[in-house]
Amino acid sequence: MRAIGLGVALVALGFGACRLLLPERLAVNVPMGRGSPPSSDVFGGRIQVPPGFSIRLWAELPRVRFLRPVPGGDLLASVPREGRVVRLLADRDGDGRSDGSETLLADLDRPHGLDLHGGWLYVAETGAVRRIRFDPADPAAGVSGALETVVSGLPAGGNHWTRTARIGPDGGLYVSVGSSCNVCEEEDPRRAAMLRFDPESGRGGLYARGLRNAVGFDWRPGTGELYATDNGRDLLGDDFPPCELNRVVEGGDYGWPVANGDRIPDPDLGAGQKARIAASLPPVHGFRAHNAPLGITFLRSDAQPAGYRGAALVALHGSWNRTRKDGYKVVSLHWGESGRIEERDFVWGFLEGENVIGRPVDVAELGDGSIFVSDDYAGAVYRITRGAGEAVSRTAPAAGGARSDPLAALAEGERRAAAARGSALWERHACAGCHDPRDHDPGVVPVELRDLGARYDLEGLASYLAAPTPPMPAFDLTPGERRDLAVSLLADGVRADR
Ligand code: HEC
Repeated sequence: MRAIGLGVALVALGFGACRLLLPERLAVNVPMGRGSPPSSDVFGGRIQVPPGFSIRLWAELPRVRFLRPVPGGDLLASVPREGRVVRLLADRDGDGRSDGSETLLADLDRPHGLDLHGGWLYVAETGAVRRIRFDPADPAAGVSGALETVVSGLPAGGNHWTRTARIGPDGGLYVSVGSSCNVCEEEDPRRAAMLRFDPESGRGGLYARGLRNAVGFDWRPGTGELYATDNGRDLLGDDFPPCELNRVVEGGDYGWPVANGDRIPDPDLGAGQKARIAASLPPVHGFRAHNAPLGITFLRSDAQPAGYRGAALVALHGSWNRTRKDGYKVVSLHWGESGRIEERDFVWGFLEGENVIGRPVDVAELGDGSIFVSDDYAGAVYRITRGAGEAVSRTAPAAGGARSDPLAALAEGERRAAAARGSALWERHACAGCHDPRDHDPGVVPVELRDLGARYDLEGLASYLAAPTPPMPAFDLTPGERRDLAVSLLADGVRADR
């Protein structure tokens, strides 16, 4: 096996070289430490979500990796390094946090991917997929019976020991197995591959190959197309190759180890591979190099706003092989009419300069539209909800005491409803195009809407919208709509902060 691994970089580090002295392609620049969530002040001051959403810390779970929502509101989470699958209990007491956790399964061999199907909980360990009876409708019952092996003898060892398993819309058990190395010719064809099995008989095998490490995959609603994230190889510099989103089809070859990105021959193993490279399938979307896309989830809930229903959320775990850190956020992917995929920030602020406070791993959505993100660096699960009026403002209270609340006169329900209508108007009138620093129209210098509550009361902001200061355009809005917009701007820490 020809392997171009990390040896050189690690030897260089072993002699105490700092990252700046290393050639770029050998850069090792990984955040160390943490293990607990940042304080709510730091979190509130840094972590951002798009207008109309809010985010908060929902549960603490050190080393949490993959998630699977349970109808009813609980969340299953894998903790591979502790051999456990944990159930995080829904927030039934309404304090905005999970009501606690319980270990559902223990003593497993690095459990990672989880799925629920037909009354079974499927768990992907590093060398096997097993399942156990699980009744989501009866929270007290938990799992029952014994673990049953569905597939065993998956190639284990080497790099990339996490396995992800999901049941597809066709009832098949799909399992992704990453490569054993950074770049090499594998001896076992089931490595760097997507496998497919019949969950009843365990029969099956190779489905697609050339996928270096497809940690996350999901099926696009409406089309049933299978999309998988894939981490590009290391040690080729800060900006190459792109990490990938692939549309995985049966028999497809996605190019690793002979090609990277859109069929660019690999400098180590691409020589003499013209035919294989030409026949390989290019990614449908490229993420920035070394961003490490892991979990992907298509948003299916009717509760999502129009722009997000059908979009995919992807957790970018963040770079280690880059002189300047990059990634460390959740992005949303939006499919355009032409099939072009647009990438936007969805949760960001974990990385500020070179400082990291979190590393997103997986994303899950419940039927009610709430979205969960796991973070194995902070050991946390965050919950993102719609609407600004929740008592979960992402901004920390201003230092030195609270300001008077410009919305104090509104009842909670009224505030929430008005803010939701206002957020819809914000979207309908494309206000973000001029106001969102991260999502503005091309060529526009965005005007950040910061701290509006310090300068406007509700009436004042509504009347500003009736007669805005040019070049802010005047919109054709009814008095009620102006008031709704003003409520959403004042209630929504996200937007009011911009
Ligand atoms: C074509 C660009 C554009 C669009 C679209 C736009 N704005 Fe503005 N907006 C501006 C500019 C420029 C300013 C700053 C005006 C000034 O110089 O005072 C502004 C100012 C504002 C202010 C006052 C900020 C402050 O701190 O005083 C608010 C509130 C505001 N816009 C809300 C909205 C809302 C709500 C929408 C959508 C209905 C919207 N804007 C759409 C360009 C735009």
